[in-house]
Amino acid sequence: MAKWDDDQDADKIWGRDISNRAQKEQLATKVAKRLKKGDVVGVGSGSTSFLVLRALASRRDQEELDFRAITTSIEMELICAALGITTTTLQAEVPDWSFDGADEVDDEENLIKGRGGALLREKLVIKACTESYIVIDPSKRVSRLGSKFPVPIETIPDAIHIVYQELSKMSVVESMVLRQAVAKDGPVITENGNVIFDVKFSKIDKDMESKLKAIVGVVETGLFIGYKPTIVSE
Ligand code: A5P
Repeated sequence: MAKWDDDQDADKIWGRDISNRAQKEQLATKVAKRLKKGDVVGVGSGSTSFLVLRALASRRDQEELDFRAITTSIEMELICAALGITTTTLQAEVPDWSFDGADEVDDEENLIKGRGGALLREKLVIKACTESYIVIDPSKRVSRLGSKFPVPIETIPDAIHIVYQELSKMSVVESMVLRQAVAKDGPVITENGNVIFDVKFSKIDKDMESKLKAIVGVVETGLFIGYKPTIVSE
């Protein structure tokens, strides 16, 4: 079958530097040990997930452990294509287990995710799984959620004024920006056709995820509170 790019190579498709690569690769190898033949694996997004996927593909090649992937972004679909990994969907199957990275992890294993904009499908996958691994290098540990990263809030485009006004009423909101694309004019449009507000909070309570979800027009947030994934950090 003809391919859109004759020289399909996962690293070339990834195409950017990876911070703390050696540490992330070590953790990726550790998580890849979980793979069993025939598994359906939920695949997160971001650089750590890319390296875990590479480690899984390498086990598949060396030990004939065929598996299928449920991806959380177009980027990871392309990486799967380059690595020859068959994909399936959440509509068709339930993942046996999943892995992902995170932007922040607090002491109670609550997360902020979504720097890469894939938060909705990432949350669907973690919710669908009974066994999830969040792979983080030490830079992701925080004592207070929100201290380094804003919380991404995926919003239906028609609702930007409603959501902006509702967020403005919250005393704990310090700042918010509509995420802008880098190599295209205008806002980032997610895989689901939505836009993202990046919101800095002075305080994030346990019920913040549900409070934000209650705003009409908010599709999902990058707060993952109380999901209790297994954190792989050393
Ligand atoms: C993607 O939308 C994000 O949730 C990533 O999983 C998160 O930003 C971690 O990315 P890195 O593994 O690149 O740090």
